[in-house]
Amino acid sequence: MPVVPAPAIPQHVAIVMDGNGRWAAGHGRIRTVGHRVGGATVRAAIEFARQRGLRVLTLYAFSQENWSRPEAEVRVLMRLFARAFRQEVAALHAQQVRLRFIGARTRLRPALLQAMEAAEALTVDNTALEVVIAIDYGGQWDICQAAQRCADDGIPVSPEAVTARLSTRDLPDVDLLIRTGGERRLSNFLLWQAAYAELYFTDILWPAFDHAAFEAALRWFASRERRFGAVPCAGSSTAIARPAARAARA
Ligand code: FPP
Repeated sequence: MPVVPAPAIPQHVAIVMDGNGRWAAGHGRIRTVGHRVGGATVRAAIEFARQRGLRVLTLYAFSQENWSRPEAEVRVLMRLFARAFRQEVAALHAQQVRLRFIGARTRLRPALLQAMEAAEALTVDNTALEVVIAIDYGGQWDICQAAQRCADDGIPVSPEAVTARLSTRDLPDVDLLIRTGGERRLSNFLLWQAAYAELYFTDILWPAFDHAAFEAALRWFASRERRFGAVPCAGSSTAIARPAARAARA
């Protein structure tokens, strides 16, 4: 079994961006203001991730469960996404950031879909950082669609076969999963991909999650001893044995 040192910087960070509504309420504003300010925090988090040399940053923008929010809020969010993807893509492209989206695309409006597809096409060859936006996403949906693809391909279901058919199939597993806003749950985010992720929960509400807060999460990650279900290898306090299938994809 290959031995890999625990990295100081995670390759793949995933974030559940929670707390926009509470942040807005705390500032005497309506919920959608929280989402707008949360959009600015997304921009800052991407910039920070690029500066710090992360390989992948996955952001949970809209879950499949979020469709049950009031129609007006959903409409505002969808418009905000479309506008943000259109407005930000040139600057991200200039910084060599690749933008891509995971989730079911069946319920998204044409204007949003078009903004997503254009952003993906423009940035497809960029290599500085991959920003993956999960929109209309659910971890259970992802696993089910991968299993369905196994069936369609006539392949027996196995961990490797499912992994190869997830929406994140060419990305490394999540190393660090951050959730802002004080709740301590995964909310159906990257259930398979975060199997061995370090979980970091903070009470900071998403709009207030600044560079210092992101840095604190990275510092905490660097202090973790990752075991992947094994025990530390003899002769080293930091070396760990990574399961072969996962190491092969990293
Ligand atoms: C959860 O906070 C947040 C969302 C459902 C939306 C996330 C959207 C953004 C951060 C805006 C911009 C995003 C992109 C990708 C441009 P909440 O509304 O559940 O907050 P609460 O728990 O305080 O009510």
